Amino acid sequence: MKKIVLTGAAGRLGSILRAPLSRLCETLVSSDIAEDIGTLNTNERYVRADLADKAAIMDLLDGADIVVHFGAIVDEAPFEELLGPNFIGAYNIWEAAYQHGLRRVVYASSIHAVGMYPKTECVGLDAPHRPDTFYGLAKCFAEDLGRMYWEKRGLEAVCLRILSCAPVGNARALGTWLSDGDLVHLVERAIDTPVTGFSLVYGVSNNDRCPVDNSKAAFLGYRPKDNAEQFAVRILAEAGPHDPADPGQMCHGGPFAGIALGQGAKALLNIPEEE
Ligand SMILES: NC(=O)c1ccc[n+]([C@@H]2O[C@H](COP(=O)([O-])OP(=O)(O)OC[C@H]3O[C@@H](n4cnc5c(N)ncnc54)[C@H](O)[C@@H]3O)[C@@H](O)[C@H]2O)c1
Repeated sequence: MKKIVLTGAAGRLGSILRAPLSRLCETLVSSDIAEDIGTLNTNERYVRADLADKAAIMDLLDGADIVVHFGAIVDEAPFEELLGPNFIGAYNIWEAAYQHGLRRVVYASSIHAVGMYPKTECVGLDAPHRPDTFYGLAKCFAEDLGRMYWEKRGLEAVCLRILSCAPVGNARALGTWLSDGDLVHLVERAIDTPVTGFSLVYGVSNNDRCPVDNSKAAFLGYRPKDNAEQFAVRILAEAGPHDPADPGQMCHGGPFAGIALGQGAKALLNIPEEE
């Protein structure tokens, strides 16, 4: 492959993906709105671009084979704050990918596209959208955009509904954890599977308490290896009181399902510092 573009390259997940992606192509073009992203891999270039700037995104994707779109505001926020980066940004990526004839968009979607389903229901890949926030609504919008560009314009997309790619810090994460290694494996499969059409897959490790069903995405060959059960004794010993009336505890979206629309929820996830 000649050129892969990675957005959100300065972010937590983008930083994990840069080196492995650089090994899959002649040139990796990493992009973000941040000033810089530190030391570059030998075949990597950094381009600073705002996702909401259509001309900048058109330039960014010129000559690329695949775009791995991870850039976004990653928290609940007022709709107007998410509109540029998360909604219009997604449109700009798909439209530029189409205009430049890219093969595929690999997109970081989220469990928050279906976050209002109760945890007692194992959510599959064909469950209708049920977003828990404006943030989740933007993920639904991008997934629908991806399906429409596939059905109307033949542009492939793999939407990765990531659950929690962060150190395990609470009881919910015993089911939702996606390890860094499994994230890399998932993105590699989303890129190297020869034909994907429009596909959805949950980004979750091989957890005993996994709350979602990936069976319909088996053809991607994503076989996660890590299991959050290794943290269960410690995490459950530290867990606070349970409240079955709290949607934040009873729904797949966790705290995002419990907070008011437009109000930041990331802090409530209680994600520990990197180990
Ligand atoms: N970390 C998780 O557990 C998780 C779970 C579900 C989905 N996701 C998705 O994965 C992706 C990466 O998440 P992350 O945890 O690395 O978040 P992050 O906040 O660390 O990274 C997001 C990056 O996007 C960039 N960005 C924000 N606004 C931008 C704009 N207008 N133009 C260009 N770049 C912009 C930020 O500067 C940041 O570097 C996001 O799309 C997120 O929604 C992450």
